[in-house]
Amino acid sequence: MTSNLQAYRGSLLHFLADPAFNDNAHDWHEDGLLIIEDGKVKAAGDYTALHATLPPGAVVHDYSGKLLMPGFIDTHLHYPQTDMIASPSEGLLPWLETYTFPSERQFEDSGYAANVADFFLDELLRCGTTTAMVYCTVHPQSVDAFFAASEQRGLRMVAGKVMMDRNCPDFLRDTAESSARDTEALIQRWHKRGRSLYAITPRFAPTSTEEQLRLAGELARAYPDTFIQTHVSENEAECAWVRELFPKSRSYIDVYDSYGMMRPRAMYGHCIWLDERDRQRMAETQSAAAICPTSNLFLGSGLFDFERADEAGVLLSLATDVGGGTSFSMLQTMNEAYKVARLKGSYLPALRMFYLATLGAARSMQLEGTIGNFAQGAEADFIVIDPQATPLLQRRTARSGSLEELLFALALLGDDRAIAATYAAGQQVHVRETT
Ligand code: GUN
Ligand code: ZN
Repeated sequence: MTSNLQAYRGSLLHFLADPAFNDNAHDWHEDGLLIIEDGKVKAAGDYTALHATLPPGAVVHDYSGKLLMPGFIDTHLHYPQTDMIASPSEGLLPWLETYTFPSERQFEDSGYAANVADFFLDELLRCGTTTAMVYCTVHPQSVDAFFAASEQRGLRMVAGKVMMDRNCPDFLRDTAESSARDTEALIQRWHKRGRSLYAITPRFAPTSTEEQLRLAGELARAYPDTFIQTHVSENEAECAWVRELFPKSRSYIDVYDSYGMMRPRAMYGHCIWLDERDRQRMAETQSAAAICPTSNLFLGSGLFDFERADEAGVLLSLATDVGGGTSFSMLQTMNEAYKVARLKGSYLPALRMFYLATLGAARSMQLEGTIGNFAQGAEADFIVIDPQATPLLQRRTARSGSLEELLFALALLGDDRAIAATYAAGQQVHVRETT
């Protein structure tokens, strides 16, 4: 049998554990080699040691001077909000009314949805993001368009149809029954087809009746390896609204808990206004937080508390929340996450941020071993980062005295320009054009 073997030389970085809790969490080879066979990682390590194991005549792609690392994972964003990114508004609820709902209406049209899905995925790849947890709209055809486009590119993507049966315009409203029926049909059509995975997606508690949440919880139980994604405790006005709508619930996240929606593979966007019991409950159910710093700063929602979340042992990851977020780039997301942590009196090392955007996200999604690092047999989704991508990066990274300083400069100064190439399942899916 012939195998499809490719090798890549460069400075290699990936994570084996969380650097916040382990001294030897990362694996770094300044002169490294990544060997890919049939779309999976065969080996990752020192060039000199591994080069000798290659069959005679094997081609080595030379990325010396650049970094090879696993593709970024963005655990919360909305593809239908691509064209309304950077829309001005005084906070979450007016922003939803004024921009979001009218934009999402257009995804009734499959052709329109396909066009945006193509642009959106190419933009993610330009930014080095190879996996994302994506909200579609209330229209099932928006999900079909999205997965068709991601399948065409060979990407591991998680997505779902928004469920929304109240407190929204008529043109975006489903019903509890139709949303459950459509969701189940989409699970059967897309979940685990190729690299596609499905997320049950009630938008957030205020736009779902109790019956819709009950049916979403039933689906989550019936299909335990699907994902769940929703928003929680993002903004104070939203939290006050949830208290009014669900007076019997102890807290916002308790609404979801009471419908059986806290479990492994449940991803909660934002998680800003949580209390200790909420965090405890997230940790014990292995529900995960998708932290969205560019969005939280842009909409004035609040500051995520990294220290408290770590004390409780909550699973953490970083997310752009496009179009509430202001960038598709996980590097820019790290930049803002760092500043959010500083404003809360804590400190996020660069190594931790790169962990959160790769293995931390894979662990949050129960996908360790599949994506997120270069473990043998993992899917070969990787990126090539260029520390000399811009004149400023070139000057700054030439002076970095440690790996931490190098990564820190990339996180603070880098964006899509720093991504020289992106590979999915061993295939090149983006290469930066240089002039
Ligand atoms: N809460 C409910 N829907 C949304 C949305 O589309 N974006 C953000 N940031 N928060 C939400
Ligand atoms: Zn969101």
